[in-house]
Amino acid sequence: MKFFVDTADIDEIRDLAETGLLDGATTNPSLVAKTGRDFMEVLKDICATVDGPVSAEVTGLDAPTMLTEAEKLLKVADNIAIKVPLTWEGLKACKALSSNGTLVNVTLCFSANQALLAGKAGAAFISPFVGRLDDIGQTGMDLISDIRQIYDQYDSIQTEILVASIRSATHVKDAALIGADVATIPPNVIRQLAQHPLTDKGLDAFMKDWAKTGQSIT
Ligand code: G3P
Repeated sequence: MKFFVDTADIDEIRDLAETGLLDGATTNPSLVAKTGRDFMEVLKDICATVDGPVSAEVTGLDAPTMLTEAEKLLKVADNIAIKVPLTWEGLKACKALSSNGTLVNVTLCFSANQALLAGKAGAAFISPFVGRLDDIGQTGMDLISDIRQIYDQYDSIQTEILVASIRSATHVKDAALIGADVATIPPNVIRQLAQHPLTDKGLDAFMKDWAKTGQSIT
């Protein structure tokens, strides 16, 4: 499963990119607003830091405006993926952009039928929001299973399932168990993935015992 980082905070992205474990990044208008920075500058910085696709979201609500915005966003860097909302206008823009070879991430997906439409529109990525479904008492991960099952039945659909609105390490594990293609993960959750109290306790014991030997490897 690929790991994208879900933030527009360049310091966080630089820090995590040093691990070599990032395959891309996703942003959205709310994440950009949190930075207080100019959108184009933020995108330039992220694209220069992350090798894989960097999702940049349009803000127009009609397809012609989305396409005009996409044209501008695509000039920022070669690794921009255009993010459009899962509306009829967004699907129209997705079809037009994907037909020209542009990577499109269709966002704000909350149902399997929406994901089916994005697949038919040639999306490179579909972003189902698991955390927000959990928030309203549903089981977000059930949607990932449904989409996986549907996409696997049609060779014509090449869309990757990009699990979004991830809130916990358990979401990441469940997405991987289902076979999602990508998880876009907030920085704090990425860091949590490596943590286990028994790892810390075990390492502490190893270091204490090593010190008793009086040896040094270097
Ligand atoms: O990638 C979409 C994601 O940023 C939304 O997450 O936590 O605002 O539902 P959240």
